[in-house]
Amino acid sequence: MAEIIAIDGPAGSGKSSVSKEVARRLGFGYLDTGAAYRALAWAVAEGKIQRPAPEQETFDGFDYEISLDPDNYWVKSFGADITDAIRLPEIASSVSAVAQVLAVRRFMKQLTRDLVASSSLPGVIVEGRDITTVVAPDAPVRLLLTASEEVRLERRAKELSPEDLATLRQQVLERDKSDSKVVEFMKPAEGVELIDTTNLNFEQTVQTVLSIIREQL
Ligand code: DC
Repeated sequence: MAEIIAIDGPAGSGKSSVSKEVARRLGFGYLDTGAAYRALAWAVAEGKIQRPAPEQETFDGFDYEISLDPDNYWVKSFGADITDAIRLPEIASSVSAVAQVLAVRRFMKQLTRDLVASSSLPGVIVEGRDITTVVAPDAPVRLLLTASEEVRLERRAKELSPEDLATLRQQVLERDKSDSKVVEFMKPAEGVELIDTTNLNFEQTVQTVLSIIREQL
């Protein structure tokens, strides 16, 4: 079974791009767990599945597939390729609500473990919010990537126009606040190594993560 490298962090911490690049350099798989929550928000918006209710005890009927290849990333749900659709702002603003349903979180935990188990690669970089604490607390390498609020917003803003900035600030901070209600990803759990990327560029962050993985695996 593939070794899990668990990486958590808030929005804009750089964890997705860093995880993908680290996976490439090590010949490992890359699993973006946020994509499953986004795909569920998409499926609810498209009427493919009923909106999960906070108190429901079980959750099923979600059709989902994701690639673990860092060079060929795609996400599919109910027969549609939704790789781009799940990045739209309306998904970003509706995903937290579905991610707070505990039955959904239990389902996603098992889904993530099954996806890793199906990989024949020596390792998979799994990134999200609760990987180091809930999904893979026994992983041989567990990292929490953070950065100051300002830097996280700056990184997210790079692709946007100035008038979108205020909306972005509101969206990113509100989403982190809302996500934090169900999982702790701003402070490292015991045994989790904290990497503050505020003053690191992309390559420096990749190198830091690679050296910790090489040391700990
Ligand atoms: O990393 P991301 O922005 O694509 O994540 C989308 C949402 O999914 C985010 O608002 C929080 C949620 N999420 C989660 O609750 N647990 C995870 N392991 C990954 C993501």
